[in-house]
Amino acid sequence: MTDRYAVIGNPVAHSRSPTIHQLFAAQCGQDLDYSTLLAPLDGFAATVQRFAASGGRGLNVTLPFKQEAFRLATDVSARAHAAGAVNTLKFDDGQILADNTDGAGLVRDLTANLGCTIAGKRILLLGAGGAARGVINPLCGEGPAHLQIANRTVDKARHLAAEFSAAEFTIAGCGFADLAGSSFDLIINATSASMSDASLDLPAKLFAPGAVAYDMVYGRASPFMRQAQAAGATVVVDGLGMLVEQAAESFLLWRGVRPDTAPVLHRLRQELAAR
Ligand code: ATR
Repeated sequence: MTDRYAVIGNPVAHSRSPTIHQLFAAQCGQDLDYSTLLAPLDGFAATVQRFAASGGRGLNVTLPFKQEAFRLATDVSARAHAAGAVNTLKFDDGQILADNTDGAGLVRDLTANLGCTIAGKRILLLGAGGAARGVINPLCGEGPAHLQIANRTVDKARHLAAEFSAAEFTIAGCGFADLAGSSFDLIINATSASMSDASLDLPAKLFAPGAVAYDMVYGRASPFMRQAQAAGATVVVDGLGMLVEQAAESFLLWRGVRPDTAPVLHRLRQELAAR
């Protein structure tokens, strides 16, 4: 029987995950079906339970249910625990296993696809919400020289930095204005500002020579990406690679095989360019 998977969210019709996972399945010769699953805002748990009870094998979880998925799980991975959010569920013998592959997806896109070295570098993470929290541990795992977290609401950045503070390197939180005079090798936009086409109030000279600017949002040149380009960042990218890489990590968890992401990423880029 064909194994069933889906991405659950609200809204969810726009999701690229079905395309990505069907391409992975075809490439790896895996017999599975992957669709979208719309859950009512007050009916996430019931929708998950129904899907699992009807034989569903796993779910990707997207907005606004990533925290709720955490609470529903019977078994939470260490990285989902650190992120405080879940993007992958696996149903196994009545158990609900929960994981978070977003951070691993970002790191893999940066290092394997973009050839960016994180070790020993000065990293700036913009934002202190769920998206930022989820990538801190995976970034720190690569051994940066320094991780600066900057946020519009300064206290949230300070709290996050304190929570993840590490002995081997420094993590500090601040506001955007405090960044004046500093420069970074890698700047990651994890705010949701790009969703509303808002630009960030960033000081000039933030981008060191050869700097990489990464926006987690994908599908269009965001105000942050335009700012980075104008400020002289050498590499400016959106988060499409992160989307494909986090999907590959989920696929690995479910199916025990890691798909080759390069052709899938290439295909999605072509589709987006043709829109
Ligand atoms: P997500 O799960 O996408 O991270 P979130 O937890 O609501 O969503 O966090 C949104 C992040 O984007 C926050 O860091 C938020 O800053 P505040 O903590 O000050 O609210 C940031 N953000 C959203 N819109 C922004 C804007 N126009 N300018 C700057 N930061 C913005």
